[in-house]
Amino acid sequence: MKYDRRPETMERITTPELAQAYIDDQIAELRAQVGDKKVLLALSGGVDSSVVAALLIKAIGQQLVCVHVNHGLLRKGEPEQVIEVFRNQMNANLIYVDATDRFLDKLAGVSDPETKRKIIGGEFIEVFAEEARKLDGIEFLAQGTIWPDILESENGIKAHHNAGGLPEDMKFELVEPVRILFKDEVRVVGEALGLPHGMVYRQPFPGPGLGVRCPGAITRDRLEAVRESDAILREEFEKNGLVDKVWQYFTVVPDFRSTGIKNDKRAFEWLCIVRAIITTDVMTATVAELPHELMVHITDRITHEVPGINRVLYDFTPKPTATVEFE
Ligand code: XMP
Repeated sequence: MKYDRRPETMERITTPELAQAYIDDQIAELRAQVGDKKVLLALSGGVDSSVVAALLIKAIGQQLVCVHVNHGLLRKGEPEQVIEVFRNQMNANLIYVDATDRFLDKLAGVSDPETKRKIIGGEFIEVFAEEARKLDGIEFLAQGTIWPDILESENGIKAHHNAGGLPEDMKFELVEPVRILFKDEVRVVGEALGLPHGMVYRQPFPGPGLGVRCPGAITRDRLEAVRESDAILREEFEKNGLVDKVWQYFTVVPDFRSTGIKNDKRAFEWLCIVRAIITTDVMTATVAELPHELMVHITDRITHEVPGINRVLYDFTPKPTATVEFE
């Protein structure tokens, strides 16, 4: 790699022209680094790994092997979008692994948030390593490390979440083509590479996915209620022009039931909490002010379209005292 660190004088990539220059530069570098060898990438469908995939597809085509692990905790339509964009449109060499049952079986009955996170993270590495072992001749591992990841790990704020985790005997040379970029630059580069706007500008989504929005022990039916209510919320926010105004918005379905009425009968069902926050750095956050009429409409849709939910609440709590996520 030409640059291990971001040069102090590097101009911020803010235009398609600057993005194209970066892309051309990276393609040349990636070809020089990889030669005719194969590269493996865990493709989550998040911004960073998607941009890395698109860059590598341009540079080395079929020498890139993408593995998309569906842990069953993704949002509605996400695995389908990864397959559509990367396999169908970009002709990527994509291995899709539906590991839903494996993850949900391991998580069954586990209610402690940190234990849930550990299981999801650990199982992810195991599934990915299993797939990697089936492949021959892989010498490189591509990662969506970005510049803030490097800075934060140097400052001891968080462990470098991308680096490693794979078993000791699996040694690959790293390929990190967005390592010196800030998040906004990764997005500009992603658009210049032809990725869908919605994929490149999507809201943050935690690694443990909907697992942290299904508080307590995850059950399949309650997880489905989270996924369906989240899909309705996203659809309504998109229709009503809120996507660019609100930083993050999602639903949570706690393991708690309350009495209601459905079809003239008593319905003892879950409640669904809507959270929508505004922030710049996620260290603190305020609550988005949403039109009352829209909230009434969203409530109507969720209570009528999502099985098992008879009540919708809005979370008015800023960070602090609350965190963004519930677990
Ligand atoms: P909190 O809940 O800590 O969230 O206020 C701050 C931001 O981080 C995201 N988040 C996570 N992202 N793995 C991730 O990759 C996680 O375990 C995780 N927990 C929270 C959260 O969505 C918000 O954007």
